Amino acid sequence: MLFPVAVLVALAALPASVLGRQIPVLDGVIGGVKSSSVAKAKAPQQFSVAASTPTPGKLRVTENSGVCETTPGVYQASGYGDLTSNESVWFWFFAARNNPDTAPLITWFNGGPGSSSMIGLFQELGPCRINNASTGVDLNPTAWNEFANVLFIDQPIGVGFSYGSTTTGTSQAAASDVWKFLQIWFADSRFSKYATRNFGIWTESYGGHYGPTFAAYFLSQNTGIANGTVTGVPINLKVLGVGDGLTDPISQYPGYISYAGSNPYHALVSTSTITKANTAWTKSGGCKAQITSCNNGGSNSVCSSAQDYCNNNILSPLAGNWDVYYVPTANPDPYPADLTSYLTSSAVTSKIGSQSTWQETNDDVYDNFAATGDWMRSSKPALETVIKAGVRTVVYDGDADFILNFNGVEAMVDSLSTQFSSLYAQQSFANYTVNGESAGLYKNAGLFSYVRFFGAGHEVPAYQWGNIPRGAAALQMFTQIMSNTSLTPT
Ligand SMILES: *[C@@H]1O[C@H](CO)[C@@H](O)[C@H](O)[C@H]1NC(C)=O
Ligand SMILES: *[C@@H]1O[C@H](CO)[C@@H](O)[C@H](O)[C@H]1NC(C)=O
Ligand SMILES: *[C@@H]1O[C@H](CO)[C@@H](O)[C@H](O)[C@H]1NC(C)=O
Ligand SMILES: *[C@@H]1O[C@H](CO)[C@@H](O)[C@H](O)[C@H]1NC(C)=O
Ligand SMILES: *[C@@H]1O[C@H](CO)[C@@H](O)[C@H](O)[C@H]1NC(C)=O
Repeated sequence: MLFPVAVLVALAALPASVLGRQIPVLDGVIGGVKSSSVAKAKAPQQFSVAASTPTPGKLRVTENSGVCETTPGVYQASGYGDLTSNESVWFWFFAARNNPDTAPLITWFNGGPGSSSMIGLFQELGPCRINNASTGVDLNPTAWNEFANVLFIDQPIGVGFSYGSTTTGTSQAAASDVWKFLQIWFADSRFSKYATRNFGIWTESYGGHYGPTFAAYFLSQNTGIANGTVTGVPINLKVLGVGDGLTDPISQYPGYISYAGSNPYHALVSTSTITKANTAWTKSGGCKAQITSCNNGGSNSVCSSAQDYCNNNILSPLAGNWDVYYVPTANPDPYPADLTSYLTSSAVTSKIGSQSTWQETNDDVYDNFAATGDWMRSSKPALETVIKAGVRTVVYDGDADFILNFNGVEAMVDSLSTQFSSLYAQQSFANYTVNGESAGLYKNAGLFSYVRFFGAGHEVPAYQWGNIPRGAAALQMFTQIMSNTSLTPT
């Protein structure tokens, strides 16, 4: 599909920093689909001279690099799990700061698709955070490894420090590679002790697809292991956490229209822009109709066209001039600071065992997903499967995020059909307090919880609110859910 000239002109005006954020901007459209009519530079070659070579089925590990986690005595390891000779998955593991021998194990995945989980590590919940000048890192007192052993994974192949054959183009294919990686990780004598710990998947953004899809796939592999059709170690999945996630476009896209008109901060665009987007949603052959066709067994091209149309006519125009990840600020918000100079500096790369040049987002991977229309396929059935299987699940959202705003996410949650749904519908929101101060609104129903954080952008743990320290509200949620308790105000 050709893009209107106006959109191409808009592309030239977009600041570079926006192009590099978690969800790619393609041909001027946030979450757009590559137009064949627009010449596009190939993503830079990912390989550097390999100082270590892949052995399929094995890990390459650098222990205690001293980068990021500087708390005395806390173990860390980084490196690659080599699925094949040309598929190397980057991981960075931090043992829990407290009780590492009994603490649960969680994995963290950022979204994109195509974006690196180093975003979460260095901007959100890792043991250290990038400073505002991008010149170095500071220890993070609200890191999630205060409570759990935390494993950051760059995936699919080609993303972040991962490298090799970039053929993955669906969340389902990504799930299979992550499962294979975990089998290799658990088979290593350094990490096999973690295989029996309670296991959590935590993810964000496009992770609204990844999280439910990975979780449902791991459960199905566990069934296969139990019935002898799959060889491997079971993944002891107990928790799924999805922040600011894209799970079910049909229930979430109306949220762009309502949020752009009214949110806790300010309207994002004029009434006429909202009216136009609303028409694009409702009209015959419009966004709603296209997502519906996609979800009713639509082909890759139907789903891909739906992504193209909806992001061109709804998501992108409704953002106005505000930062789509944190709407109180004009675009681009310089916070959280860019990671590129730090993660490509030899001070870091000479220590951690990386073998490729880090990029925040791999456009080839993004394009593969855009070509299959995976974006518009619903992960809600997978989410329901996981909840029904008894996996404790929390969905959360920052109220300052437009790109996966709480209006859309709450509509998705309200539309779930599980054993907890009718109880959930009967609950009303209550204040989620941290040391007596309100951090947001929450509901619990059985093993399902939802929380909307005040003042938080897309990367929830990166923000602070009132007198509550940066990341403290997110850490409270994380700790409670990982302790197998419902959200509890403190
Ligand atoms: C970094 O920037 C954020 C967002 O503007 C601000 O809230 C925070 O205080 C800054 N941090 C420091 C140490 O200046
Ligand atoms: C990756 O290796 C497999 C064989 O292991 C080969 O079939 C495939 O073409 C390779 N892909 C790339 C992109 O090199
Ligand atoms: C074994 O488990 C798999 C799920 O991995 C399932 O698809 C299959 O039907 C099961 N087979 C038997 C014989 O139970
Ligand atoms: C939450 O607390 C605030 C004050 O911090 C209050 O204004 C608001 O009504 C409370 N909301 C709910 C749902 O209890
Ligand atoms: C979590 O709590 C529920 C009930 O509250 C219980 O059924 C489940 O077994 C617990 N899970 C773990 C991992 O302890």
